[in-house]
Amino acid sequence: MGARPWTRQSLQHAALFIVAAALLVNQNAAAEEASSCPALLQAHKEKHPKEAAPLKSTEDGQQQMLYFLHVPRTAGRTFHGCFLKLGTQPHKRCPKGYDHLRMDMSAPGCAMLSTHDDFSIVSLLPSDVAVLTHLRDPVDRVLSAYEFAVEVGSRHASRPANVRKAANKIATDEVWPWSSLVPFIAEDVKRRRAAPATSASSPPIQPHHWVHVTHPDGSQYYYNKYKDISKWNLTAEEQQHLLPPLNPYENDLVISLKEFVEHPIAQELLHNGQVFQVLGITNYSHWDDASTMRRCFWQDAHTHEELSKLAQARISRFSHVGTTDKLAESVTSAAVSLNLAVDGAAWGQRPQDLQTNFFPSPHLYRCLV
Ligand SMILES: *[C@@H]1O[C@H](CO)[C@@H](O)[C@H](O)[C@H]1NC(C)=O
Ligand SMILES: *[C@@H]1O[C@H](CO)[C@@H](O)[C@H](O)[C@H]1NC(C)=O
Repeated sequence: MGARPWTRQSLQHAALFIVAAALLVNQNAAAEEASSCPALLQAHKEKHPKEAAPLKSTEDGQQQMLYFLHVPRTAGRTFHGCFLKLGTQPHKRCPKGYDHLRMDMSAPGCAMLSTHDDFSIVSLLPSDVAVLTHLRDPVDRVLSAYEFAVEVGSRHASRPANVRKAANKIATDEVWPWSSLVPFIAEDVKRRRAAPATSASSPPIQPHHWVHVTHPDGSQYYYNKYKDISKWNLTAEEQQHLLPPLNPYENDLVISLKEFVEHPIAQELLHNGQVFQVLGITNYSHWDDASTMRRCFWQDAHTHEELSKLAQARISRFSHVGTTDKLAESVTSAAVSLNLAVDGAAWGQRPQDLQTNFFPSPHLYRCLV
C-alpha cells in the first residue's frame, strides 16, 4: 500500500490548522501590542503636554487667539459663521483655511481660527491659545455624516469630469474627512448606476412611473420624473404604477446605512470621531503617534479608559463646549463665556458691513430658523 493520498478531508484539516495557527499568531501579536499600550500612552502624554489656555479677560489688551475646534456635523459651521465670525472684527479673523494644509499662520494678530483639524494643531498655535468646540450625540453625528456624504457624493457622481472649481473657495470634498468620504460614496453610486438592474426593486424609470411626495410644507402630491410633471391625484390606472417608497437608509442607489457604518472607512473616520478629534489622534493628526494611539484605544481596554478620561479632562479646559441639540442655548452661553457683547456690533465680511444689535442679529436669526 502506497502513501495515503491526501483526501479532501485531510486537506481541510490542514487548512484549518494553518488558519488556526495564523489566528493564534495574530492574537499573540495583538496581545503583545496591547500590553505595550500603557507605556505608549505615557510617552504620548509626555510628548504632547500642551492643553488649552484659559480665556484671559479682554481688559488687559492682550490679543489672545481663540481656536474653534470644528468637529464635522455638529452645527459648527452655523455656530462659527453666524455667531463667532460676526463677533470678530474682520482684521482679527485668521485667514480662511479649512485645515492645516491650507492654514496661513503668518497673519499678524489673527485671533479667531476655525478648522476641521484635530487638537494636535494646538501644538502649532500660540502658547496661550484658548479653545472651544461643539459636540453632538455620537449616533446622531454618524447618521448626519452618512446623510451628508450621500448627498454630496451622489451629486459628485453626476458631475461632469471637467467641472470647474471656484477660485479661492475651499470645496467640501477637499476638507477632511469629506476628502475621503465623498469620493467613496461617489464611486459607490457610479458603480451601482453602471450595474445592470438586477431586481424588480430597481427598475429603470419609465414614463408611467409615479412617486408619492410629501413636500416640506406638508402637502402631498405625485411626481412623474420621466415627464417631469406633478399631480394632486392619480387615476386608478396611474395608481398601479406608483413606485414603493424609497427607504433612504437602504436602497439600491447607494451603500446602505448598515453597510456604511460597518465599513472600515467609517470605522477609520467616524467611529469615536469626536473623542479622537479632541485627543488629536484622528487620521489627519499632526502627531506621528496618532495611529498607534487609535490602535491602543481599540485594542487595550485600560488605554481606552485612560484616553476617554484624557478627552474629558481636556474639554474641561476649553473656554466653551456647545452642543448641537441645544444650539440656540449654546450660542447664548458661549456669548457669556467668551465675553462677546451680544448687544454690541456684528461685523460682516467687510468693515463697512458693521451692524449693531449683534444679538439676535439678522444673520443669527436667519441661521437659527
Ligand atoms: C385630490 O387630492 C386632494 C389632496 O390630496 C384631495 O383633497 C381631493 O379631494 C382630491 N380630489 C379628487 C377628485 O380625488
Ligand atoms: C485616513 O483614512 C482614509 C479612509 O480610510 C484614508 O483614505 C486616508 O488615506 C487616511 N489618511 C491617512 C493620513 O492615513
